[in-house]
Amino acid sequence: MQFHPKSCRNEREVESKLIVQYLLPKLGYSPDNWYQEVIYGNIRLDFLTVASKKIKNLSSCVVIEAKHPQENLDHHVRRLGHYLMKTKSFYGVLTNGKEFRIYQREKDKLKFIFYCQGENIANNISKINSLIGKESLSQKFSTSQPLSIPKLSQTSIKESKKLPMKVIAVYHNKGGVGKTTTVVNLAAAFSKKGKRVLVIDLDSQANTTFATGLVKFEDEEFDNIKDCNILHVLQSEDFYSIEEVAIKSQFSNPEIHVIPSHIDLMECENKFNLIDYTRLILIDKLDKVKDKYDIVLIDTPPSLNLYARIALIATDYLIIPSDLKPFANQGLTNVKEFVKQVNGFRRQIRREPIEVLGILACKISTNARFVSATLRKRLEVIPKRYEISMMETVIYDRDDLAKCAEKMQIVGDIEIPDPVSILDFKPASKSAQEFEILADEVLEKIGDK
Ligand SMILES: Nc1ncnc2c1ncn2[C@@H]1O[C@H](COP(=O)(O)OP(=O)(O)OP(=O)(O)O)[C@@H](O)[C@H]1O
Ligand SMILES: [Mg+2]
Repeated sequence: MQFHPKSCRNEREVESKLIVQYLLPKLGYSPDNWYQEVIYGNIRLDFLTVASKKIKNLSSCVVIEAKHPQENLDHHVRRLGHYLMKTKSFYGVLTNGKEFRIYQREKDKLKFIFYCQGENIANNISKINSLIGKESLSQKFSTSQPLSIPKLSQTSIKESKKLPMKVIAVYHNKGGVGKTTTVVNLAAAFSKKGKRVLVIDLDSQANTTFATGLVKFEDEEFDNIKDCNILHVLQSEDFYSIEEVAIKSQFSNPEIHVIPSHIDLMECENKFNLIDYTRLILIDKLDKVKDKYDIVLIDTPPSLNLYARIALIATDYLIIPSDLKPFANQGLTNVKEFVKQVNGFRRQIRREPIEVLGILACKISTNARFVSATLRKRLEVIPKRYEISMMETVIYDRDDLAKCAEKMQIVGDIEIPDPVSILDFKPASKSAQEFEILADEVLEKIGDK
């Protein structure tokens, strides 16, 4: 049986014609040595091969991910790395039929160990066999001590020295692009990785305050946030410390802390404009809790207003969510200009410039044709046109994400909001995985990995 890339027109055909009919038999895997659509914890693998059932862990397994022939494999490397880490297997294959790549995991890093074009797979089959064939892997892992490497990597993570608290603002002046969704779910993903997380809502719409379940009252008469929120933090130099104002939120497990916002922020903006020093209060107050939190995430309003400025002055890093549609793209010019202005101010107060982590593609259609044609082009064009890099993770438009934020609970005869993070709502969902992968990407970029 031969294989030719032209016979694969979509992902299904890459799976059936390349992997099932050609590759697995050539590598010595019979049907009871491989599994398709494997659920492992909260991840879903396209294929998992088992070199030897006698080896009790998954170290001798190969994770194989098949993509549409139009897909750029570079965009899937991080996800493959995440799968190898989770399963503790050492080898992963990434292919779209046109390209064939093999990666090896070394502790928590991926090493690229083999590449060939689809049409050359047959010529290279003995090399591929020596790397990930059933015989060679079962020999390799039966003679070594397979458990030692993952154990080492875990201890090295735990024993790594404590890093200083990092502040990350999530900002775009265009509304509805996924800022709040990113903040709350990324906070949950960090918290599940053992980080101590504080979220600050700096938007008078208070959507983050709502999305983290702090608005439990039905009637404004019972509003317990009005008298203690971010506005108080910003207005008082001596009182309303972060510790005093932060509320524990159970929207994710482990819990996170949230400094809530309130509609009152809107009317106070003009008053604030006159008092420059209020911009620095947040920096000072955050400094006082630097040993209490590992990561602070700030949600911002969709504008170029004072609160957005306060967020950008206080932050170390910036993530710019965008649906990559024309208005959001045009808005990037404003974002760049705004960042430049804020950096000017930061220079005066001897603060390093903001480190932009990149544009995060959010609310992206999952339509296969859109993903393989339009999205691919946008991911290439936008960084060139606006000179801001794209983050590797893509957050797709998925119903689960909207649903978890709208969850309600019946208490007696009233319905109260009971939002939860996507990682708590549906941990095995694709959305939950996207946020886990985003958390990994961010941690790597801020030097926490
Ligand atoms: N990836 C997604 N999939 C499905 N729905 C999403 C996704 N991201 C955001 N949404 C929904 O889109 C709406 C806007 O998202 P969100 O509130 O996160 O945007 P925003 O940028 O914070 O908006 P604003 O500028 O008004 O603060 C919300 O109803 C949210 O549930
Ligand atoms: Mg928002």
